[in-house]
Amino acid sequence: MTGFDTDRIKKDFPILDRRFDGERLVYLDSAASSQRPNAVIDAMSDYYRTSHANANRGAYKLAVEATDALEKGRANVARFIGAPHVHEVIFTKNATEAMNLFARSWGDANVGEGDAIVLTEMEHHANIVPWHQLRERTGVELRWVPVDDNGELDLSDLDRLLDGAKLLSVSAMSNVLGTLNPIRRLADAAHAAGAICAADASQYVPHLPTDVTELGVDAMFFTGHKMLGPTGIGVMWGTTELLEAMPPFLGGGDMILQVTKDGFTTADLPHKFEAGTPSVAEVVGLGAAVEYLEALGMENVRAHEVSLTAYAMRTLTERFGDDITIHGPAEPAARGGVLSIIYKDVHAHDLSQVLDGRNVCVRSGHHCAKPLMQKLDVAATARASMYVYNDEADVDMLADAIDEAGDFFAF
Ligand code: ALA
Repeated sequence: MTGFDTDRIKKDFPILDRRFDGERLVYLDSAASSQRPNAVIDAMSDYYRTSHANANRGAYKLAVEATDALEKGRANVARFIGAPHVHEVIFTKNATEAMNLFARSWGDANVGEGDAIVLTEMEHHANIVPWHQLRERTGVELRWVPVDDNGELDLSDLDRLLDGAKLLSVSAMSNVLGTLNPIRRLADAAHAAGAICAADASQYVPHLPTDVTELGVDAMFFTGHKMLGPTGIGVMWGTTELLEAMPPFLGGGDMILQVTKDGFTTADLPHKFEAGTPSVAEVVGLGAAVEYLEALGMENVRAHEVSLTAYAMRTLTERFGDDITIHGPAEPAARGGVLSIIYKDVHAHDLSQVLDGRNVCVRSGHHCAKPLMQKLDVAATARASMYVYNDEADVDMLADAIDEAGDFFAF
């Protein structure tokens, strides 16, 4: 183990004190949404109790406090991802909205018939459907990097796929397989081909030290609720050069410099992309989540998850042998703490229901990645996903509950 004090960390998360039928909760669904520490809940509640007003509008003291709270959250996020400029952090409702914004703004302005966009077979629907919609509007061609039998990208044909492409948009970490993709290498290849590179980092930013400059991407998208922050807040990050060249998407208050009866001019970054009243409390909560993760240290978070993933893979394989399939890379260091499981021929929904009988929370289904499910030739998997508050006892509970499902569905 890594010396990560999960007993202490668990105490920071009030929901983990809940009991169902007198038994504790084993929360293994953080890839869908993480839980929140008191630090985040308190920061949001304090903000509402003491400092709320509309931000970026009023000149009175309370409004200035609200604006400062918003901008402090933005600065925290920028620091957390190594953004060269704070104004490159654009707040959205979630990662899905961030990708839709990008597809509408950058996509509509830059691609048309005869152009190509490269995606991969392991993308979440949020990094597929906006591009299908763009294809319907513009006729752009979508190309797909295949996934190999180890659950990793097969890059053998990458140069051909990128030839003439305008964009490579790729998941930094698969929400189904846990695969960590070689983003730097992909970004370099995209640039060499004259394309830009965007990363869906919804599963990456919460779990690994992140530096957008080191990753080499031009744009990146992630969400607050998977990184201990609130729901209702996501981020589109882009280089200043890219964002300045992109037209605004939503129009309304705060995104303008001037409006007349004849037209409008747009505000500077980041306001150009943030029409309407901002989600100040959610940004405050996200800023507090960033501070909580920074205090743990993202290198420590990553080391803990590699160690726990290795323990989980070893435990499940030793206990269930050929009866269990864990999709994705065999090497724990090549993946995040996401284990998509097929157990015997028990349907994933049935398995998750039996696990729920032991208060073990996992997601079952297609995980919003249907093209990947088609590739894996499965309808659904049960997915256990781990975070800072999980430990070996949680993995043991998962294994015991799978055992019980085996007994229950024995025929
Ligand atoms: N994208 C989230 C998941 O993988 C909801 O579960």
